[in-house]
This record gives sequence, C-alpha cells and structure tokens, in this order.
Amino acid sequence: MSAIEQRYREFPNGFIWGTATASYQIEGAAKAEGRGPSIWDTFSKTPGKVLFGHTGDVACDHFHRYQDDVRLMSELGINSYRFSLAWPRVFPEKGKFLEHGFDFYKRLLEELHKYNIQPATTIYHWDLPQWLEDEGGWSNRETVKHYLEFAEAAFKALGDQIPLWITHNEPWCASMLSYGIGEHAPGLKDWRRAYRAAHHLMLSHGETVKLYRQMGLTGDIGITLNLTPAYSATDNLSDVEAAARQDIFSNRWFLDPIFKGAYPSEFIDRLEKHIGPLDFVHEGDLKTISEPIDFLGINFYSRSVVKNHSDGSLLEVGHVKTENKVTDMGWEVYPPALYDLLKRLQSEYTSLPLYITENGAASPDVVREGQVHDDDRIDYVHAHLQAAHQFIEEGGNLKGYYVWSLMDNFEWAFGYTKRFGIVYVDYDTQARIPKDSFHWYQKVITDNGVQE
Ligand code: NOJ
Repeated sequence: MSAIEQRYREFPNGFIWGTATASYQIEGAAKAEGRGPSIWDTFSKTPGKVLFGHTGDVACDHFHRYQDDVRLMSELGINSYRFSLAWPRVFPEKGKFLEHGFDFYKRLLEELHKYNIQPATTIYHWDLPQWLEDEGGWSNRETVKHYLEFAEAAFKALGDQIPLWITHNEPWCASMLSYGIGEHAPGLKDWRRAYRAAHHLMLSHGETVKLYRQMGLTGDIGITLNLTPAYSATDNLSDVEAAARQDIFSNRWFLDPIFKGAYPSEFIDRLEKHIGPLDFVHEGDLKTISEPIDFLGINFYSRSVVKNHSDGSLLEVGHVKTENKVTDMGWEVYPPALYDLLKRLQSEYTSLPLYITENGAASPDVVREGQVHDDDRIDYVHAHLQAAHQFIEEGGNLKGYYVWSLMDNFEWAFGYTKRFGIVYVDYDTQARIPKDSFHWYQKVITDNGVQE
C-alpha cells in the first residue's frame, strides 16, 4: 500500500474554463459579405513574410463552420469562449461602415447562447484594416479615433450580449513585434514607430474603457497583456540589470501605465537616446490609459532568461538557453514562472480579478488511426494549471483559464506549420479531430480540477 496520497487540486466554484481563438487565425472567408483587407492579408501575401506563403484566406473556415465548432465546444464542456471581432468586416475601406459586418458574430453568439457558453470578446486581435495602415497604422494617433468608432459600433451591436470585453490582445506584439522587430504585420523595423504604436494602442484602450462606461453597459471590460517574466542568468549586477531592462520592455511598459499611470521612469533616458523625444505622449494620456478596468487578462507561454550584452542597442540584453524542455515554438517550458508572475501582479500591481486568457503549447502533432496523442501538450497545460491553482490556494484572485487554442489555426508568421489546438484541423478536408488533450481538458472541466 502506498503511503503517498494523490492530492487533488480543486478549483473554486464558478471557475471559468474556456478556450480562445482570434478572427484572422480561424475565420477564413476573407472576402465574404464585403470584408476588406487587413494588414495580415497584405503581409501574408508579401513573399518571404509568412512561412510557405500561407494566408488566412480560408484558415479553419470557421466563418462557415461555426455551428460545428460551437458543438465541439459544448462537447468539451467549456463555460466561456474567447474570440475576436474582425475590424475589416465592419470598416472595409476608408469612410465605409458595414452594419452587417457584425452579423457573423450575432450568429455565433446565438449559437453560443444555445449551449450556455458565455462569450468573452476581444475587440482587436491584430487584423487592422489595411486602409488604416496606409495612413500610418498604430503609429498614427488618428487610429485611436477610428478604433473608438469600431468599439462603439461593436458595443451598440453586441454590447448587451457580451459579459466580458477585452479591448486589446497583446499590445506588445501589435507594437514592438509589428513595428519594431518586424516579424508581424505590417513588418516594420522602426523603434520610434513601435513605441508610438504602443502608446496609441494603450491610449485607445483607456478611451474605450471610458466609452464603455459612458454607454451604460454593465459587463466587465479589461485588457489582455502577454507577460513574459525576465530572469537573470546569473547574480552579477550587470545581468540583473539586463533582466530589469528586459522586464520593462516586455512587461512594465504596458503594466505600469495601466496600473500606475506612468511609464517606467528609469528607462526614459535610454529610450529617448534611441528613438528621440517621447513627444507623442500628450498631457492627460496617462490618466486615460490608467482608467480603471474590471480585470486583467494574461497570456502566458514562457519566460526569458537574459544576461547583459553591451552592443549599443536599446536593450543590450542577450538571451540564454536553458536545459529545460521547449515546445515546438522553441519556447522554454517553465511553469513556475506563471506562479511567480501571478504573485507579482498581485503584490505590485492589482487585486483585481485576473484571467489567464491564453496558455498552451505547440507540438508537431500527427494523426494516427484517427487519434492525436499529444502528451506534451497535456503535460504543459497540467503543469500550468497546477501553478495557477497554487496561486488561488494562497488567496490569489484568478477567475478563469482559457486554453490557446480550441483548434489548430494560422500561427501568424509561421502559417499553419505550428499547431496549438486541442482539436486537430486537417486543412485539406477541414475535418476536426479532437486530440487527447481535448479529452483530458474535458475531464478537468467536469472534475473542476486536476490531480497533483
Ligand atoms: C498569442 C496570440 O494572442 C495568439 O494569436 C497566438 O496564436 C498565440 N499567442 C500563440 O503564439
């Protein structure tokens, strides 16, 4: 007889179990009902930008198959589904507004309602209408106004049916990765424009929260940040300082203005030396950005481990590889970083409800006799749920968890080569094949918990 009792980690009653997706990654139907091009349509059709020239033209054809997909969600047992709205379906070209651009989402909401699945809606998940990019995109302050028009139209069309609104998904990616590093659309390498874009994204967030309240809507509104904790590779002061810079770049540049109403002051001199004066930050902007929200969404995948690297660049950090396992994205699997992050958010930033709005892993899945044995993904989600539970057990205010993703989809610059789904998508036939992780997650939801 074993003396070791297996501990069972039970989540609180009413815990939100969900899955997440995004419009461009799953919908397809790129020209349906008058949709205009987004920056991702343009970028993916530019040779050399996306692996194998993959595009979101068809993606998972969710636009036409949403009923089957919602049926799968109901089989899975989730009580919430996170999806995003495609801006170019509603404002396809300059000066053109298509009220019917929301019809697809109305149909989707009706279907979710049938199965009692609560919607959680991201207003912007990277598919900026191309006509706006032609005018400077997020690095142009005017885009804030246009975003507000879109948000207002969305609130009018769908506001009373959606209890949880997310203004932006990962503004770090929509700015730094898109206008600075250049790996995401529009693919620019201009740090001044990247920081301008970040500022305008955040400003549009704050303005939208205000608008939501002014319109008298009663659901919850917040933002989703991708947070990547930075650890120093050694105890040397110069490496510890490098980790602090990396932390500002990935995390604090977004967290501080939201919760403290200020950009990290210790970084400003260094930044201005590289990109010029931060004159795009106008008086009153930080007050707007720090408009009180109802919750914080966190997308968590991995951490970074860094050391000092004096190369005259803005950050001067070098990334260090560890011995730990990596996912198919090459991202280190390190669940304790999730626990550390949640603790830090609670002690340094907020006691507001937190949601893990994305967490998951890519793996090179294959179908064998109609099944997909994705043990690595199960292990990944399991370990992160344990970390999340530990936080809750110690009094942490974590309200929900969304697996990224419901199904395999268009993984941005990697096209369809990276699979994150708990449902396998055969892109030739559009067949959906629930993976082992689907069945495993189904049981987690039924049990409202995981084994230790
Ligand atoms: C974050 C993004 O929100 C999502 O669009 C992406 O597919 C996943 N991470 C995986 O990289």
